[in-house]
Amino acid sequence: MAEAIQAYGAAISAAERQSERGVLAESLRRLGVVHHLRDQPGLARELCQRSYQTATSMSDSVLAAEALNALAGFDFEAGLIPEAREKFYQALELGVASAELRGRTEQNLGILANIQGALTEALAHYRQSLVAFQSIGDDRGCAIAYHNLGMVSSDRELWDDADRYFRQSLDIAQAIGDVHLQGLGLLNHAEVHLARQRYDDARLNAEAALGIFDRLDSRLDKADAYKVIGRVYRETGRHALAEARLRDAVAMAVSTGSVLSEAEASRELALLYQGTGRNQEALRFLNSAHRLFGRLDARVDLVDVSTKVLKLEETYFAVVRDWGQSIESSDSYTYGHCERVASYSVALARELGLDEGQQTAIRIGAYLHDLGKVRVPHEILNKPTALTPEEFGVIQMHPIWGLELLATVEFPWDIKPIIRWHHEKYDGSGYPDRLRGDEIPVSAQIICIVDVYDALTTTRSYRGAMSHPEALGKMQEVRGWWRPDVYQAFMRTVAQVSSPRAA
Ligand SMILES: [Fe+2]
Ligand SMILES: [Fe+2]
Repeated sequence: MAEAIQAYGAAISAAERQSERGVLAESLRRLGVVHHLRDQPGLARELCQRSYQTATSMSDSVLAAEALNALAGFDFEAGLIPEAREKFYQALELGVASAELRGRTEQNLGILANIQGALTEALAHYRQSLVAFQSIGDDRGCAIAYHNLGMVSSDRELWDDADRYFRQSLDIAQAIGDVHLQGLGLLNHAEVHLARQRYDDARLNAEAALGIFDRLDSRLDKADAYKVIGRVYRETGRHALAEARLRDAVAMAVSTGSVLSEAEASRELALLYQGTGRNQEALRFLNSAHRLFGRLDARVDLVDVSTKVLKLEETYFAVVRDWGQSIESSDSYTYGHCERVASYSVALARELGLDEGQQTAIRIGAYLHDLGKVRVPHEILNKPTALTPEEFGVIQMHPIWGLELLATVEFPWDIKPIIRWHHEKYDGSGYPDRLRGDEIPVSAQIICIVDVYDALTTTRSYRGAMSHPEALGKMQEVRGWWRPDVYQAFMRTVAQVSSPRAA
């Protein structure tokens, strides 16, 4: 780089002496890009600005557009997305005479739209990029455009289009001998095969890609190939192989420092563990994926981070919901207890003005609140007559056992206080720690009141269901169990939306 800086500097001096403005504009921009790579953003920008002014003064609109394209790239990497978009559009307008520049600029606009989740817009830009590259017979440009079109079509679940685009990209990549692009095309096409349940094609593609990445010694790409192969094994019920491949994928992603690859492989591993009933491990890997997705930088990873986080949270809810429901079957609760507690508790949390993070904690806490009941003997849980003090003592252990089951799980939200204290009462008469008043977190109080309401209004082993007014009357008698604002908010919201259920 030092030599490049020296040579461009010499070119600039010579061009200035001989008034070669075209060479000057070109050299200024190139020197700017080198300084950008050397992490000198101020100098990089200044040089590209000068390049733009020089090009404009000689009315060379293509060189001016090249300078704008470079400046837009700097904005993009600095996170100035609207500024970047505006400059890319200006470059597009000015550089209309150069199809090659148009191809690159449209491609950049496509990437920009993609990371913001604007897939239709991204598709349109990639199409324009393809048209530009086709017009000048730029094969490599075309292959990249087809590949990007395949990726967006796949994200939009337009499988036929994705199939076609990946095939076209692959054909060209093969013809021009671009091995890396070939590997990427094979691997991303494998994901389409997987989505369409063409498992053999998916595995063959991913293994061919793995072979290529192995020869190129590209560890990051290998991690992604292992991930896809692991998914194929998982979907076809070969769990041991799936686990081995997905663990390879996580380990290799860690060794290359790729946050995105590690996060995605962790999520896939979590889904495998969920499917095989290893819930603690599933949650451990989901938590790790959640933490990693939180660290993603859309500009570096070229992905739409918010959609990824949203999808992960959906997976998260699905895992804890399944786990919660598996407890219901052994308990005397009627079907749907966890789901009802979750939705009423979130409504109540919203009424109390709790933020999104607290609402998420409450939803997950609601699904898992009675996890510890798996350790309570079936005869005690379903006893049709009154419990002895010893039996009640066993029941009272379930909040503590719940925490024991989750001892190895580090949640990104504050779930554990909900599980431990959802039977504590404001007047100090609850269990297991006999907390009182504001010692009890509001999230635990919310689950507590909704849990009591749902217990009263559903049939239990020892009594029938109460009607909605009967239950509210009963709760009025013991309103000292809850923080006054929680009780009042419950009466304003949940008690009004929930209708009486038949026994
Ligand atoms: Fe409970
Ligand atoms: Fe419960």
